[in-house]
Amino acid sequence: MSSSDSDQRVLSGMRPTGRMHIGHYHGALKNWVQLQHQYDCYFFVADFHALTTGYQDTENIEQFTFDTVVDWLAVGLSPGAATIFVQSKVPEHAELHLLLSMITPVPWLERVPTYKDQLANLGDRDLGTYGFLGYPVLQAADILMYRAGHVPVGGDQVAHLELVREIARRFNHIFGREPQFEMHAERAIAQMGKRPARLYRQARKDYLERGDTEALSRAQALLAEQQNLSIGNRERLFGYLEGGGRIILPEPQALLTEAPQVPGVDGRKMSKSYNNTIRLRESPDVVEQKVRKMVTDPARVRREDPGDPNKCPVFELHEVYSDDDTKTWAADGCRGASIGCIDCKGPLIDAINREQAPFIERAEQFENNPDLVRTVLIEGSEAAREEARETLEEVKAAVGIAHR
Ligand code: TRP
Ligand code: SF4
Repeated sequence: MSSSDSDQRVLSGMRPTGRMHIGHYHGALKNWVQLQHQYDCYFFVADFHALTTGYQDTENIEQFTFDTVVDWLAVGLSPGAATIFVQSKVPEHAELHLLLSMITPVPWLERVPTYKDQLANLGDRDLGTYGFLGYPVLQAADILMYRAGHVPVGGDQVAHLELVREIARRFNHIFGREPQFEMHAERAIAQMGKRPARLYRQARKDYLERGDTEALSRAQALLAEQQNLSIGNRERLFGYLEGGGRIILPEPQALLTEAPQVPGVDGRKMSKSYNNTIRLRESPDVVEQKVRKMVTDPARVRREDPGDPNKCPVFELHEVYSDDDTKTWAADGCRGASIGCIDCKGPLIDAINREQAPFIERAEQFENNPDLVRTVLIEGSEAAREEARETLEEVKAAVGIAHR
């Protein structure tokens, strides 16, 4: 795999927090389901990460991992389309984490915005550990292991991703340098054959001398299609384009998707810890009960009182679930008090249940036969491991501990 393929690769992970809810679906999973058909996707359960904030309570991690994966399969992630695995089943994550930890300056970690926040806010947990401080390095290992070019994350994770990029850059800077880099690069160019070599040289010159980024893309595409370059030489030539050394670990980018914020039934953000969720695969009558009890614009005390949809979490759900006609019907009916809140909630209950029906159906076979889930994870983890081993071999060679 070379830096160019990294553009085709997506990786993301979630901690095993147990059964998921419709907020997870609209915030992330729905997007993953799309991405699996467009990219070479790696999705994993981040069980090592769960330990960074919760090493004291591990009794649920395995059950939660199972539940998480059943939810993933239920919403349509498919082991045929994406590599689905468990982090701890690919021990190379720990090994790469260790190697990256050697070059990561401690102040970079202390500066991560969520670090101090969480130290202050997760008061009852012991976060004074080495593992918690190093958690972004573990995340860097997760991503860089697969040379993922794109990482779908929420806004709160953008700072982490910037740190991952810095760690990759620093690693490449330190270990991508080799004695006589230029000579090796020139030799690699010669290997490409006359015409590609000429095009490469010209594009490199245009980029280095005039900052012509189109020339850079052209040269990268040219390298991607060369059949007779070894991985090492390809990396050298990617690195040579931009001046420095070899690019061993390509820098990932955040794949930000505008995901709607799903309110919980109490109007706050939907979250397990607030106990205000509508779970994935929730049975239709529970969905109905929960939505019926959902808080609305407090100004609508009686049916005759007009309301304001913009002050109502139920209307936020309409924004997620309803078409324009239904939204107009709800908003007009609310402002003119021509419909009641129970009427307003009706189409939502139907829409949520319609969305969930195929999830419930798909999950059934997995709930009835847990071994199917285990097989998905064993096979996914083995496939991930092969990729991981390849990266680690190169990383160790670059560091100087290949012992070949
Ligand atoms: N940090 C993420 C979370 O806490 C999970 C995660 C771990 C992750 N490694 C990752 C997400 C790599 C994206 C890429 O939910
Ligand atoms: Fe909310 Fe609908 Fe009731 Fe208006 S009518 S307050 S939008 S539930």
